[in-house]
Amino acid sequence: MVKIAVLGHGVVGSGVMEVLKKNQKSIERKTGQTIEAKYVLVRHDYDVDYKEKFVQDFDVILQDPEVSIVVEVMGGVHPAYDYVKASLLSGKNVVTSNKELVAVKGNELLKIAREHNRNFLFEASVGGGIPIIHPLHACLAANQISEIAGILNGTTNFILTKMIKEQMSFEDALALAQRLGYAEKDPTADVEGFDACRKICILASLAFGRHVYPQQVEVEGITRITPEDVAYAEDCDSVIKLIGWVKRNFEENTIVIRVCPALLSTDSQLASVDDVFNGILVRGDITGDVMFYGKGAGKLPTASAVVADVIEEVKNPENIATMYWEDAPDHYVVDAKTAVLSYYVRAKVLDTKRATEIAEKMFGEITVLSRKGQPEDEIAFLTPETVERTLDDTLAKFQSIADAKLLGLIRRLDY
Ligand code: NDP
Ligand code: HSE
Repeated sequence: MVKIAVLGHGVVGSGVMEVLKKNQKSIERKTGQTIEAKYVLVRHDYDVDYKEKFVQDFDVILQDPEVSIVVEVMGGVHPAYDYVKASLLSGKNVVTSNKELVAVKGNELLKIAREHNRNFLFEASVGGGIPIIHPLHACLAANQISEIAGILNGTTNFILTKMIKEQMSFEDALALAQRLGYAEKDPTADVEGFDACRKICILASLAFGRHVYPQQVEVEGITRITPEDVAYAEDCDSVIKLIGWVKRNFEENTIVIRVCPALLSTDSQLASVDDVFNGILVRGDITGDVMFYGKGAGKLPTASAVVADVIEEVKNPENIATMYWEDAPDHYVVDAKTAVLSYYVRAKVLDTKRATEIAEKMFGEITVLSRKGQPEDEIAFLTPETVERTLDDTLAKFQSIADAKLLGLIRRLDY
């Protein structure tokens, strides 16, 4: 019998309890052990038939030598970090779904786990139910990874899909995502891109072996995307998705990393990833592109990944984690504006013909876009690919010379 403790009884915590019960027999067959949640750490009561497991004092769990695995599914950095660190130091293995914790403290917690011959596993922290952490670390180990790009947030992908395909309002779509258990406690983390940022930090840290902190990443969310932008995107056979991406420069040992809404060609594999699904493209030098796809959020998909890590730790209670990354050298993350890309620009202008001619002169070969119901004083176009910082300078001059008021600016990415 293996006894575990679950910290938190929200969407994921209750899902973990459900999966352990529902698949108890098959888990026993796979591990040769019965896994029992001895404690569930809560702050208040819940109406379930295992209330006797609820405790409100973490020390009860920490001091109980019978508990060999601690499952942290509370979210946030504190007190999650303190509880996880104390658990590892006291010889317990840890599983977490908490991407904020891994993105901020992953290097330190992996080091503690390694030094104490314990496991710190976090498959559920990226991609919900999609296996990505273990495959990236183990199955793609023969590759040098040059690039990762993904739809990493289920809530925003769900919102964009509902807005585009069902003309649902942003607010209604977000409320539905919250009811379905997809959104973070503070959904600003989803819609402003911070959640996707934490996930691309984890993937970059794991793939390239150097810790990337969320504050090193340029982040933009989806709150400024409008139905007008969606319509213009359709005119160039594109869709708008929130993308987290990172590219490695092997020669200089640097990375460029960013989270932003992006126009993707409808031919792109990521373009067809809709609803709460996530899609993650990993570019390896041996395999070429590998795509991971599945439900990126929600109670049971996430609990699936958490319980899989628990099973792994039951089978391998001593440290299996060669999974490890170190602090990054200075200047490892370079300015994202050194990337080469194209902008989608939408602007209100005094004279569309004149503004289009000026745009052609300033940017080079632009692609003019149109949409149904386009006002007479609105233009939209795609710029040619240029270093982003140069595009910014040109855009500033364009606005002043063409009397243009910027209404929409979205990067176009080639995935
Ligand atoms: P919820 O807010 O639904 O659940 C968190 C639970 O933890 C709540 O029950 C909360 O209690 C409890 N909690 C928070 N702090 C403490 C504390 N100090 N002591 C005891 N209990 C505490 O979040 P989720 O279950 O959705 O998410 C949990 C973690 O998993 C987060 O890090 C999230 O980012 C991550 N995650 C979530 C996914 C999802 O689809 N929902 C997918 C993948 C990862 P209270 O009710 O009192 O607030
Ligand atoms: N809020 C997150 C999302 C949960 O919507 O993707 C899964 O990490």
